[in-house]
Amino acid sequence: MHFTKLFAYAAAFASMVFLPVSGVAAPSPAEKLLESPRPLVIAHRGYSAMAPENTLPAFERGVVSGADMVELDYHHSKDGQLVVLHDYTLDRTTDATNRWGGRGLNVADRTLAELRQLDAGKWFKHPQTGVALPTLNESLDVIQRGSVTLIERKAGDAAACVKLLNDRQLVNQVVVQAFDWDYLRDLHRLEPRQVLGALGPPGTKDGKKLSDAEKALSPAWLDEIKGLGAHAAVWNKQVDAAALKAAHERELKVWVYTINDAAMAQQLFAAGVDGIITDNPAVIWKALATR
Ligand code: G3P
Ligand code: CA
Repeated sequence: MHFTKLFAYAAAFASMVFLPVSGVAAPSPAEKLLESPRPLVIAHRGYSAMAPENTLPAFERGVVSGADMVELDYHHSKDGQLVVLHDYTLDRTTDATNRWGGRGLNVADRTLAELRQLDAGKWFKHPQTGVALPTLNESLDVIQRGSVTLIERKAGDAAACVKLLNDRQLVNQVVVQAFDWDYLRDLHRLEPRQVLGALGPPGTKDGKKLSDAEKALSPAWLDEIKGLGAHAAVWNKQVDAAALKAAHERELKVWVYTINDAAMAQQLFAAGVDGIITDNPAVIWKALATR
């Protein structure tokens, strides 16, 4: 068979298999979340009111809660493995100090094999045994089975994250967010398809400490977020209806953290927020159902 004919058959077959009848590719899970007709419920560090934050039990519960996304934080170990933990130090959420002595022990100074020895569940208000620090890969395995991972980068370069997303074919099966907007710029340049959230407010601008008023979500912040290629501003409670309107005019979503109170959630829904990041998804689901 002539090569061009063979190519045409292959292309037609591929379009039948991978494209819907309309010929337009179906939106990815991350893109679908941007089109949601209701505010999103996002489990913060997993269902962290119910299980030790940023551990597999917290992620399993986050998925079971029906959260639209389950958020986590990652760092790089000394040997370059992506490991899930919020703080830069191990003291608060592991037994590192008891085990190794000293304080302020950095996650980045330890290999994955060392980090794996730590207990990450006994510190919790309802202590759990046999809970280890998870890798990003293991966490994705759990969360992606029933939700969408909101990956927050705490440390490490964009190339490592992009490599993982490409290796695992997870581009736009997840959302990536960071407080470091240079990291987001890099990630957008390397993988322009990936849906990104820009975390704020930044603490400083051009080396100058910002006042509370300057930290509020504003058209200037929104323009910067749009310019770096992000799709959502992920902000604290310093958002109001005007800022939300300005975001929507720019086709940006606004997700607010960390809201564990139904009355506050109701106020934010009324103002037009697009998502709430919470330690307790049940509280937010109830607030959403009764608004
Ligand atoms: O997802 C938003 C939130 O996680 C940002 O703050 O400190 O909990 O990582 P933090
Ligand atoms: Ca986080």
